[in-house]
Amino acid sequence: GKSLVVAIDGPSGSGKSSVSREAARRLHAAYLDTGAMYRAVTLHCLSTGIDLKDAAAVEHAARAIELYISTSPDRELVTLAGVDVTTAIREPRVSEAVSAVATTLGARAELIRRQRALIAGAGHRIVAEGRDITTVVAPDAEVRILLTASESARLRRRGDQLGGTQSSSQLQQQVLERDAKDSTVVNFQQAADGVVTVDSSELDFEQTVEAVLDVVHTVA
Ligand code: C5P
Repeated sequence: GKSLVVAIDGPSGSGKSSVSREAARRLHAAYLDTGAMYRAVTLHCLSTGIDLKDAAAVEHAARAIELYISTSPDRELVTLAGVDVTTAIREPRVSEAVSAVATTLGARAELIRRQRALIAGAGHRIVAEGRDITTVVAPDAEVRILLTASESARLRRRGDQLGGTQSSSQLQQQVLERDAKDSTVVNFQQAADGVVTVDSSELDFEQTVEAVLDVVHTVA
């Protein structure tokens, strides 16, 4: 069929993952969470004792790992060498360390290559989300969206996601620190040329999904 790549970028806590997954379901498209791939490489390094400051070792790990990620929006599954790591990659220790992998350019290049292959493997009918999908991974996507939200909205959602186990100042520090580190290699705070901004600060989940689908229907 006709190619429909929907590229969605945005900071953490913008609701990007859940909104993108639901948009994919409604479009009968595949879904790719690229952040999960950075998390999987990070988890692998942490569990095998690879020094995250050793760029060559991290790049090698990114190339060598047997990483599987489901591109079905109805089946969340990530495996490393056949082991289900779907939940483990969400652990705080991974969130705290993941920027080290994201800022290792050799590891990024490898993950970008894998992401492009997954998009092609889905027959180019896919919603792919991350930090550099609209600009680097799929700059010629039919639809490119920057999903933003105010800092307070993002912190509130992140807090809800974690089930209120952390104090708001801790959370604020973690979310902002990660965004600051990520910003050194990817610009996900401003929309590139031709990228449509959807601000979800004042929208609930359903309204955000509809806003994304509206963009899809106007441009594709
Ligand atoms: O989206 P999520 O918060 O799970 O992403 C985890 C991390 O992966 C980000 O903080 C960032 O360091 C990295 N990432 C990236 N480029 C992407 C997706 C995620 O650098 N396209």
